[in-house]
Amino acid sequence: MEIIIQPDSLQASQVAARIVARLVEDKPRAVLGFATGSTPLPLYRELVRMHRESGLDLSAATTFNLDEYVGISPAHPSSYHSYMWAHLFSHVNIAKGRINIPDGLTRDIPAYCRQYEQAIHSAGGIDIQILGIGTNGHIGFNEPTSSLSSRTRIKTLTEESRRHTAAGFGGPEGVPTHVITMGLGTIMDSRMCLLLAFGKKKARAVARAVEGPVTAMVPGSVLQMHPRTVVVLDREAASELEMAGYYTWVYDHKPDWQRY
Ligand code: F6R
Repeated sequence: MEIIIQPDSLQASQVAARIVARLVEDKPRAVLGFATGSTPLPLYRELVRMHRESGLDLSAATTFNLDEYVGISPAHPSSYHSYMWAHLFSHVNIAKGRINIPDGLTRDIPAYCRQYEQAIHSAGGIDIQILGIGTNGHIGFNEPTSSLSSRTRIKTLTEESRRHTAAGFGGPEGVPTHVITMGLGTIMDSRMCLLLAFGKKKARAVARAVEGPVTAMVPGSVLQMHPRTVVVLDREAASELEMAGYYTWVYDHKPDWQRY
């Protein structure tokens, strides 16, 4: 794992955006895996800015989102479809036909999940998967005890996760109980994972995922087994890392050709 610690979430998101932009410049037909939630918002803002001001061209890219709530329509204001269109897709030039977000209204969920996996495979696999992390260590909606080799499937949200998104559904009781999420095995098949975490409330989950044992109790810890994971943090999210000083030193002494 490469750990990059930045003074704040804005600077961290700028580093993350440069990583995504460089990938797309090198490989215009890149397959991008996207996450939702509050964490990637400054990254999406920066990608939109790069598209408008520096010619970042996403017209040949394909995208796959990690997850969607079961039982709500794409048009629901708190669906992850709505989120992605509001924050990214309406403002950049990704072709509509190459955008993939799980369909929360699908009737045959197991068959649909197999098709989603097949679509990722047919697109050539995900080049970079953007990830946030829950305070309980989940990535995607792979809640604690998820199989470390799980594939796209239906999952039941924990109460903690439902509380986290309660505002968009008029309170925790209104939050859907289930989601369709890429599995940990699906995420691990991505050629690169880019995990972002900001704020003090993420510090413990980050420390457990990065420096703790690999365990299904902290699903993000599976990334320790990934050959190319970059973790971009603000200072607060990095505040419980034992080796923070080492990560900072390594980043500050990178040779120019390795810099983002
Ligand atoms: C969202 C997702 C989740 C979030 C996580 C953190 O697509 O897969 O794993 O990344 O719940 O959420 P925020 O960023 O809102 O703290």
